[in-house]
Amino acid sequence: MYYSEDVIEQIRQENDVVDIISGYVRLQKKGTSYFGLCPFHNEKSPSFSVSKNKQMYYCFGCGAGGNVITFIMEYENYSFFEAVKFLADKAGITLPEVEYQEEQRTHEKKKALLLELNKEAAKYFYYQLRSQNGAAGLNYLVNRELKDETIKQFGLGFANKTSQDLTNYLVDKGYLKEDIIEAGLASFHEKYGVMDKFWNRVMFPIQDIHHRVIGFGGRVMGEGDPKYLNSPETPVFDKSRNLYGLNFARTTRRDHYILCEGYMDVIALHQAGFTQAVASLGTSLTSGHANLLRRYTKQIYLAYDSDQAGVKASLRAIGVLKEVGLSAKVIDLSPYKDPDEFMKNLGIDKFEERISQAENSFVFEIRNLEKEFDLKDPDGKTRFFNEIAKKLCLFTEEVERENYLEAITVKYGMNRDHMRKLVVSHATKAGYVAESEKYKTAGKSKVSMEELKQRNQKLLLTWISEKPEIYQMIRTYISPNDFTKDIFQKVAIRLFQEIEEGRMNPAGIISMFTNEEEQREVASLFNSKLDRLETKQDKERALHEIMLNVKQTSLEYQTMQLGADVKALSKVIELKKEIEELRKANISLENNDE
Ligand code: CTP
Ligand code: MN
Repeated sequence: MYYSEDVIEQIRQENDVVDIISGYVRLQKKGTSYFGLCPFHNEKSPSFSVSKNKQMYYCFGCGAGGNVITFIMEYENYSFFEAVKFLADKAGITLPEVEYQEEQRTHEKKKALLLELNKEAAKYFYYQLRSQNGAAGLNYLVNRELKDETIKQFGLGFANKTSQDLTNYLVDKGYLKEDIIEAGLASFHEKYGVMDKFWNRVMFPIQDIHHRVIGFGGRVMGEGDPKYLNSPETPVFDKSRNLYGLNFARTTRRDHYILCEGYMDVIALHQAGFTQAVASLGTSLTSGHANLLRRYTKQIYLAYDSDQAGVKASLRAIGVLKEVGLSAKVIDLSPYKDPDEFMKNLGIDKFEERISQAENSFVFEIRNLEKEFDLKDPDGKTRFFNEIAKKLCLFTEEVERENYLEAITVKYGMNRDHMRKLVVSHATKAGYVAESEKYKTAGKSKVSMEELKQRNQKLLLTWISEKPEIYQMIRTYISPNDFTKDIFQKVAIRLFQEIEEGRMNPAGIISMFTNEEEQREVASLFNSKLDRLETKQDKERALHEIMLNVKQTSLEYQTMQLGADVKALSKVIELKKEIEELRKANISLENNDE
């Protein structure tokens, strides 16, 4: 961490979580909290809550949560430090330079330098395209029916035929060759020395969502191999976390995004007014991409190539999208190969029509699955039906599952009850039923022992933060050392200390952690709903059980760490005694509770 906790805390306090989130999500006040539609997952009724008192947000649907810094990290795709900087600017706070730690500082400096180099290169390519040398490039783009405006908007450029142009230009500007290489703009050859990475190509700058150039794709003029050459991954270019065109698409008014394969597809679509188009960058779709998309939309329309490879890529993408809770539809581009060709031949209205006719991903999957079986053969038919049943299991919502079951049985002339039985048999076999409960209740789903142990530690922290008054009683039996999971132990140390000093501040505890996943986990501690236990006795029993569990795990854990000497043995015995005492203890809660 390279800002002091005090500075971070000041920045957090100056940025009210309700004010900041209101700038992104429409919130409505309900009781002491504000509610809205979660920007991080697909939902129709609001389960995203923001608490003014706690200065935290939490989504009861997907578990996203944290303080104002976490929100900016998640929404803007910023690192912890970028988010802190962003919020400091908003609040007019100047960040002290001196608090940078050396290592962090060089890392940030390096990133800034690589961004600068990419920007310089983009400018250079851009001017080349409009100079004499670039005539062939400009001609190529014009032939591909790109308007001047579009070329400008996407900052397209040209890399010359000669092999050291850009490198020389950048060296003249004072940059070091090693940095130019690290930016992915040049490489070193034994025989020729440092050479440009891109030559004789039209250049597509790749921008992050803040319009910063982070890399390039270069298309060869005419035929040539490889057709597209992309920048390598660098500290500023992470291919699986960036999407081409997202910097423009993120402000689209459409409620869906179109995912395509190529640079030219995105550009052609944007030029035609389909500003909701993006593409993954010379890689197949990753869960990083899917998570990124999930921040902006719920619904993806796939517009991959219409050939066999494209179908395969679509099937894969559907799975990746589903995994993060995005639903997909597939746009039929036939008889054309890709959106770019489609647009050239059939135009805007026809494309809009294809969007509205896009095929539901499930139907698309089944239709393609069908090709693998011989339905005239009874055995093939059975196997096909079994595969359908398996896929139907994946719908966790009954209404949805029934709808598809209905549609599919009608289409293939199956008996509905028969199919339902098949689904049930697969569901029980594969444990899908348990899986569908994932977000609902803690107790019912299938979880490992390890998770169960951690869950008890987590629950105990939740209890304490919800009802700090029980801390006095708990501390007789439990100390921060009893939390075996590192992140919980850190929270416990801090939480206990704060309660003792009478100044509990959960939103502040969150920013002890700089990583989104950890922040999310800590936020969930402070926002989880404890089971709705009816009577006071039930609650006391539950708390008692949780405490015992935590203590037991702590004993196991500590036993593993100990050696085999006399001292170790007495330590174990001591712990065992503590557990016995806790077991006999009378755990009582205040009466006026809830
Ligand atoms: N691609 C790549 N490297 C290659 C080929 C393709 O990175 N050697 C990526 C590019 O992002 C490209 C996309 O895959 O835009 C789709 O490739 P392809 O269908 O071959 O190209 P098109 O986009 O149709 O290219 P063009 O229209 O320029 O011929
Ligand atoms: Mn194409």
